[in-house]
Amino acid sequence: MKFLKQMVKKIILRDYEELHRSSETPIWFDNFKNLAQGYEQLFNESTGSKKEIVPNETRLKLLARLLGTPPSEAYFIIQALAQCRDIEGDVCEFGVAHGETSALIANEIALSSNKILHLFDSFEGLPKPSEKDHLKDDILNLGSMEDYTGKMSCMEDFVLARLKAISFESQRYVIHKGFFEKVIHQDDRLPEKVCFAYVDFDLYEPIKLVLEFLHQRTRGGAIIIVDDYNFFSTGPKLAVDEFIKENNLNEPLYECFVPNSRYGNFAVLTKKS
Ligand SMILES: C[S@@+](CC[C@H](N)C(=O)[O-])C[C@H]1O[C@@H](n2cnc3c(N)ncnc32)[C@H](O)[C@@H]1O
Repeated sequence: MKFLKQMVKKIILRDYEELHRSSETPIWFDNFKNLAQGYEQLFNESTGSKKEIVPNETRLKLLARLLGTPPSEAYFIIQALAQCRDIEGDVCEFGVAHGETSALIANEIALSSNKILHLFDSFEGLPKPSEKDHLKDDILNLGSMEDYTGKMSCMEDFVLARLKAISFESQRYVIHKGFFEKVIHQDDRLPEKVCFAYVDFDLYEPIKLVLEFLHQRTRGGAIIIVDDYNFFSTGPKLAVDEFIKENNLNEPLYECFVPNSRYGNFAVLTKKS
């Protein structure tokens, strides 16, 4: 039985060690590549600044592998990382799962800086939703918000395999394993300063807690992208809206941009200088 389990794990891990994901639907990678490169060029022309997206072949392969994060949203992450390149602080992802977006982020910072990547996940799936979380989009067809407790659980080994696949050095990242509500009090390796964070915790309470945590550790120009704004649960939108209201009360400390939902469901928070 143990042998069988090890075999299954080995077979599953094999996919995570690959740069490409094989798909039943044939996708002509060169077509995707062509579109993505055109998109990058448009981005760079529209910003017209030095913080351009530098062409990179690995990025395109990582983009083609993403599940649940559309490339249009991923490009907001890529562009934000380019903008934060010269801002002091490390990079964080809250809610890592299999590590697909982690590898994308790691690849960007490997290209352009020596920033450390902090990856936070329980590796036990979602915590119990609060009463502020009402089910909006039943993505796994479970029928109720409560039934999502413990769902989306992934193995840390998958994340390590994804980082290995892009040769991201182990000194460049820290994995903070456990529920953030505990980690925040017990972990002595938390980042002192943060320039960019991708927050993908899905529920009200951990997102609100992360935003308050980041508020203490970011400076002007830092960017926080919160996923699932107005999607899946009512919690992420509520957490962001409350946070912005509380912090923009006297003077506007944050700019909050919510792109058209065709790009994905997320909010981009930029701390003002
Ligand atoms: C939607 S998945 C992340 C997906 C990933 N960012 C991607 O796009 O590939 C959400 C993850 O958040 C983690 N998570 C949710 N709430 C958490 C909490 N309070 N503490 C630690 N991890 C949490 C879950 O274990 C799950 O792996």
